[in-house]
Order: sequence, then C-alpha cells, then structure tokens
Amino acid sequence: TVYVVDNGAQYAQLIARRVREAGFYSEIVPHSVAADDLLGRNPAALILSGGPSSVYEEGAPRLDPAILNAGVPVLGICYGFQSMADALGGTVDRTGEREYGNTDIETSGGLLGQGQATVWMSHGDAVSEAPEGFSVTATSAGAPVAAFEDPDRRLYGVQWHPEVRHTPGGQALIERFLHEGAGLTANWSTGSIIDEQVARIRAQIGDEKVICALSGGVDSAVAAALVQKAVGDQLTCVFVDHGLLRAGERAQVERDFVAATGVRLITVDDSSIFLDALIGITEPEEKRKIIGREFIRSFERAARLVSEEEGSVKFLVQGTLYPDVVESGGGEGAANIKSHHNVGGLPDDLEFELCEPLRELFKDEVRAVGRELGIPEAIVGRQPFPGPGLGIRIIGEVTRERLDILRRADFIVREELTSAGLDSEIWQCPVVLLADVRSVGVQGDQRTYGHPIVLRPVSSEDAMTADWSRLPYDVIARISSRITNTVSEVNRVVVDVTSKPPGTIEWE
Ligand code: XMP
Repeated sequence: TVYVVDNGAQYAQLIARRVREAGFYSEIVPHSVAADDLLGRNPAALILSGGPSSVYEEGAPRLDPAILNAGVPVLGICYGFQSMADALGGTVDRTGEREYGNTDIETSGGLLGQGQATVWMSHGDAVSEAPEGFSVTATSAGAPVAAFEDPDRRLYGVQWHPEVRHTPGGQALIERFLHEGAGLTANWSTGSIIDEQVARIRAQIGDEKVICALSGGVDSAVAAALVQKAVGDQLTCVFVDHGLLRAGERAQVERDFVAATGVRLITVDDSSIFLDALIGITEPEEKRKIIGREFIRSFERAARLVSEEEGSVKFLVQGTLYPDVVESGGGEGAANIKSHHNVGGLPDDLEFELCEPLRELFKDEVRAVGRELGIPEAIVGRQPFPGPGLGIRIIGEVTRERLDILRRADFIVREELTSAGLDSEIWQCPVVLLADVRSVGVQGDQRTYGHPIVLRPVSSEDAMTADWSRLPYDVIARISSRITNTVSEVNRVVVDVTSKPPGTIEWE
C-alpha cells in the first residue's frame, strides 16, 4: 500500500486517485498519524500531500523525521515538500510572494523534473535551501528550490502539484516516482479488486441472508452485483419507488439490472406515501428530511417482508465509497450545507450489520468494476442522481403535475446530451423546474404564462467543487426548442453558469 499523508485541503484524495490510476493500491492517513503506527503498516511508499498551513505556524502539521529516516521512499508535494525540508534541516522562507496557477520552471536533470516545464503551483512559503545530501532539480521565479531529491535515500519532493490535471505530465511524474524512485511494480487492477472483494464478502456473510436497497444509481448497483457474485441467492434487492424518479428509471432497474445480474428484486411502490408527506412543503431541508424519513420506513417494511419470505436478514449492503469514508473521518466541524440523503445509504441504527464492498473505492473504480461485472452501460455510466430525486429539483411544492412537467423536460435534456455524445464530458446535468416562478411568453400569436426550466450542466472530479460546463450552443438551442415546443407548461429555458462554490450542484 502507498500511503498518502493528508496535510489538509482536499489534495490527498486526488493524490490517492492518481496513485491508483497508476496501478497501486493507495490509502489516506491523517497527518496526525504517529510514526510508529504508519511505519508499522509497512508502507510501500509515502506521499505527503499539500495543505493550507505554513511550517512556522503554531499547530501546523509536523513531520516526524523518523518517517524520513526509515528507508521508505517518500514524495513530498507542496506543503509536504516544505515539511520534508523543514524536518531534515533545510530552510523554508516566507517569500512574501505568492505563486499561484500555471508557472514556468527550469529543470536540471533528476527524476522528477523530466517533461515538466509548466506546472501548477499554489504556495506562499518556499524552500530556499535544500537539506544536506539533496540535489536541487528545479527552480521557478518564486521557488528557488522547486524540486529536490536524494535518490540514495529515495526521498523526493516538488513544490508544484503533480496530482492536478493543470500540471501536464503530472501523472507521469507520480508514476516515475513509484516505478523508478520507489522501485515498485504496479499490481492494482479492476480484476484484483473484484476477486479480493468477493472473497471478503463471502467471509463476512457466510450463510446469512443479506438485503440491499437499490437506488438505480451506480454505487448501489455495483455493490449489489458484487454481493450477488459472492453469495448469490442469499441476497435480495429492494427498490423503493418514491415517486420522485426520472422517466424510465424504475423500468431500467427492474429490467436491465436484473437481466445482467440475475439478482432477486422486489419493488415497492410507495409514491403516494412520499407525495402525500410532501404536500405543502417548500423548504429544501424539510423536503430532504421527509424524504429520508419516509425512505427508511419504506425500507423497513420491505425488509420485514423479505425476512418473512427468505428467513431472517442479518446484513445490509451499502454503497459507501472511499471519499465518504475519508470525509466522515476528517470532516469534523465542517458546516452542514445540505443533509445529504443517500437512498441506498441508510442509517446504521437499522438492525443489520453493514456490508460495504465499495468502502475502499473511488467512483471511477466503481464504474470499472461495474463494467467488468457486466452491468449495462445505461446504469454504470449514468450520472449521479440524488437520493431525494426530482423532489429537490422542483423549486416550490412538489406535486404530481409538476413532477410530470419536470420529467418530460428532463427526458429531453438527457436524450439530447446523449445524442450529442456529451455524457462522459459532463459530470451531471440537473434539470430544475422553477415551479413558483412564471413569466410571460408568446407562442403561436398567443400569450403564455409559463414556468422556466433551468439546465445545470457541470464538470467535476468529485462533486466537492464543480465548474459549469460550456455546452455547445447548438445543443442548448435544440434542448430549448424541444422543451418549449413539447412541454406546454414551460416557456423559457435558462442555463445556470455558476461554479461550485459559490453555487451547489443541485438547487436545493
Ligand atoms: P450539491 O448539490 O451538494 O451536490 O453540490 C453534490 C453531489 O451530491 C448529489 N446529491 C445527493 N446525492 N443524496 C445523494 O445521494 C442526496 O441527498 C444528495 N444531494 C445532492 C448531487 O446530485 C451532486 O452529485
């Protein structure tokens, strides 16, 4: 395992993903991890992430020199690079000059500088003197020591961020460190994930019965397919139709997913219960809480049914991903922006033991596993869809009529984006109905007084941050005219051009 020491600021996950893309299993540990603990895990290599601190600040993450003296290959990045310099007797200066964004560097041989000319920087402090035994292999205007290395001790560091896509050749740098610097051979692949997980699931579940809530989303589908592969008939999947689904979603799960996996599926239609509970509710958090609460009730009813028919259920499958695991460990004190309700992600005080076969995986790995398991592309490749569904994409009260309007508009958007070949470029494109807003329009010489539909196409790597997607104008034009021509209640289509932050991806 290649361990990424997290010095804060969201870079650690990106680094771990890049390491896995390179074919090495990688995990994140907090910077507070004790040297003994870390070295006791027998790391193949360590990567120290960037972070928001300055090594001189009180309480800044400190690097125990023991970690650098243990003979383990280490790559320090940005703050991690500075903390290496600091721990080994180099000098870190407050230059007073920030270097931010694309930056030109000059390299002079060495392992890390190869192929690097313009890199992405984000730092205030800079290393002005490398520790003894290190050679300086890159410099920039704001960083007299932009990279250093001591190949004999297998210690490397760079001031820039090779993990971000803005650094061309960054992935290659990380791979050079792992292969040549650390002397490792890639061994992590989709096939190895499946074999390992299937064995673990079998060991965990034994002969017991297991249940899985399917949302139609990628995660719960792949988790269910893995468990199905491991324990077959002992698994029953439950799909709760809460009436807030998109057009065709339920049929897709009932038909395509079952055909591909052979899983036993029961569907409960509780849409009336959900829609009744949402009458008169307009406040987003209130909607989310009601949907979450009703979902648990529906699921519990379904679970009782399964227990009656199949025998007592002991395990519950959840599609928890690695970022959820890292975030719930490291997110203390973070503000609650929205109460995310993950259908398929139930509270763990339900009376089951949890089986979480995706706990170690990132989304793109989950997709790769799903493909290898033969789950149809329509499910594996689909964009994220929130558990509360269309309920949080109708701004205003949720009613059957409004759901019907939004479903028709959403269907057109999805069809047009797919036929323009944009599905893999866009992270997701929520379609939002501003149900309480009306505007005047004209159609066929008639005055109309209809609702706007908002398109919210975004690009993102992990949904934590996002940018609005620059959709081709002709695609927007086709979507707009198809919606306004065929969904009579809608007379305007607008595009949301806000990044996240400050906007969130969903409108509620
Ligand atoms: P926001 O709106 O917070 O969304 O920028 C980030 C990502 O999370 C999805 N999302 C949810 N997913 N249950 C989910 O399973 C939820 O309650 C929920 N709310 C938002 C959203 O679609 C985006 O991908």
